[in-house]
Amino acid sequence: MIPEIEKLLNEQIKYEAKASAQYLSMASWADTRGYNGVADFFYKQSEEERVHMIKLVKFINERSGTASIPAIEKPRDDFKSLMELFETFLKSEEFVTAKINNVIYECLQLKDYNVHNFMQWYVAEQLEEEAVARTLLDKLKIIGDDKSGHYLFDRDINTFQVAEEGK
Ligand code: FEO
Repeated sequence: MIPEIEKLLNEQIKYEAKASAQYLSMASWADTRGYNGVADFFYKQSEEERVHMIKLVKFINERSGTASIPAIEKPRDDFKSLMELFETFLKSEEFVTAKINNVIYECLQLKDYNVHNFMQWYVAEQLEEEAVARTLLDKLKIIGDDKSGHYLFDRDINTFQVAEEGK
């Protein structure tokens, strides 16, 4: 494996691990405030990011590289509102997308078409996750401070996600 690419993929392991920890923290935040639907949504997102991370670990090791498991700093848990929670979700996904785009850019520079091909799965995944994050944030903007709106958002969020995945 090209050393520069191996380094970038190892950094990507850390970004996926960070997202997984962040979403677990967000799930716990929601759980303690009665937003059980939102909590389930983020528990699931946290699992998905863990899957993204493990896929990278296995890929690096299978390609004669060495995956390195990083230390992760404590994720945020000081959210003031559902809106802030979902703004953080979108920012996190946009950050990961930018990093994936950078890996792809470097793959093209270094003509590493195997890794370039592997990373296409992440590109598709990011497109979907960013779309979900934006849609949920748009819904929250419409709801504003309406408490019954928050109740319905929490009740319906996972139904909505199933619809997104099935599209
Ligand atoms: Fe795997 Fe959504 O970052």
